[in-house]
Amino acid sequence: MKDSTLCIHAGYSPKNGEPSAMPIVQSTTFRYESTQAIADLFDLKSNGYFYSRLANPTCGFVEERLAKLEGGVGAMLTSSGQAATLTAVLTIAKAGDHILCSSTVYGGTFNLMAVTFKRMGIDVTFFEPEETDEQVEAKIKPQTKAIFGETLANPALAVFDIERYAAIAHKHEIPLIIDNTFATPILCKPFKFGADIVVHSTTKYLDGHAIQVGGAVVDSGNFDWAKSSKFPEFTTPDESYHGLIYTQAFGKAAFIVKARAQIMRDLGVCQTAQAAFYINLGIETLPLRIRKHSENALKVAEYLSKNEKISRVIYPGLKSDPYYALGQKYMTDGLCSGVMSIELKGGREAGAKFIDNVKLASPEVHVADIKTCLLHPATATHRQLSDEQLKECGITPGLVRLSVGLEDVEDIIADIQQALDKI
Ligand SMILES: Cc1ncc(COP(=O)(O)O)c(C=O)c1O
Repeated sequence: MKDSTLCIHAGYSPKNGEPSAMPIVQSTTFRYESTQAIADLFDLKSNGYFYSRLANPTCGFVEERLAKLEGGVGAMLTSSGQAATLTAVLTIAKAGDHILCSSTVYGGTFNLMAVTFKRMGIDVTFFEPEETDEQVEAKIKPQTKAIFGETLANPALAVFDIERYAAIAHKHEIPLIIDNTFATPILCKPFKFGADIVVHSTTKYLDGHAIQVGGAVVDSGNFDWAKSSKFPEFTTPDESYHGLIYTQAFGKAAFIVKARAQIMRDLGVCQTAQAAFYINLGIETLPLRIRKHSENALKVAEYLSKNEKISRVIYPGLKSDPYYALGQKYMTDGLCSGVMSIELKGGREAGAKFIDNVKLASPEVHVADIKTCLLHPATATHRQLSDEQLKECGITPGLVRLSVGLEDVEDIIADIQQALDKI
């Protein structure tokens, strides 16, 4: 089935007399009639639900829908996108291990990698898009367990060369983890290009209406954990799970089962049934929305790139953008989502004035929902930094991040223009 069909039918197909809309199974626990039935569940010998921290039917429907959309063998919802990255990394790395991470990742991911993982004993090294294969490979150590990158980086909007980094990762017998949040499986399918694991902040386009924080981890099933010498935790008994050997018991699904049975069990960063229902409502219309977001954004980007108050529009859908060619390669029909950055010539003051004068667009610390919204890092998320310190983070004082919504594009442009006129 094609994506638009999967978004509506995969994972939940009601039988005779069952609810047409995905039901919300609002129950922490599930009743069984024998000790053997419960024992089989605990031993992962039978499929079923016993406690909603580990699995819940509504979450399960959405997990299957997402797994199908990404082309993977399984998925697991998490309480947030941050929890998805945390879970994915902890399933394969422990204290003493090392991760190689792209420098152009979302700020929260950067902090998780640079600060929190380091505090947990997982060392992280960053690499720049400009580095050659040799330079990147030189950063791989015997204890490196994965390479991590973002399809469309937030907010740098760099397009990650998935095929290139997958080849490097596989040469060193480690998986490539891709944060596919901005692209969504509609605009990019990282597994087709060699990625092994995908994470999402479902809070963005998958929900799409700014109503529910959430995340997901998806397993391609393609990485051979048994063949690589680097993952004994997949091929030797897990004493915390009655000596279970993940690769033996679950084959291609070893990673996603380990993520759930070990990491979700112990950390409890689970999604709720109610939240899964909301996320699903978003997924059902995702193909229509993401296409329209991208079409509107390209029109806005083209319009703004001719404005004399703007020094630069950063959007890989623009032919002039350094990532245009990679965008054409990796993104469906070259569509690059609704998010872009613009740099105002007037710096910090111009950025503040612009934000203060928009009427239709909302100043918000969010991106990727139906409403056009925008953020000026120099007066919001990064307000404590001097102009010099901002530049060190790759953010100029006049930079505004713009998330183009689904309003009529003429109204969006008119609003931006009248705000620019006030600068
Ligand atoms: C690309 C990307 N990944 C991960 C996250 C973290 O997701 P969440 O806010 O759902 O924890 C975000 C949030 O903005 C993001 O943009």
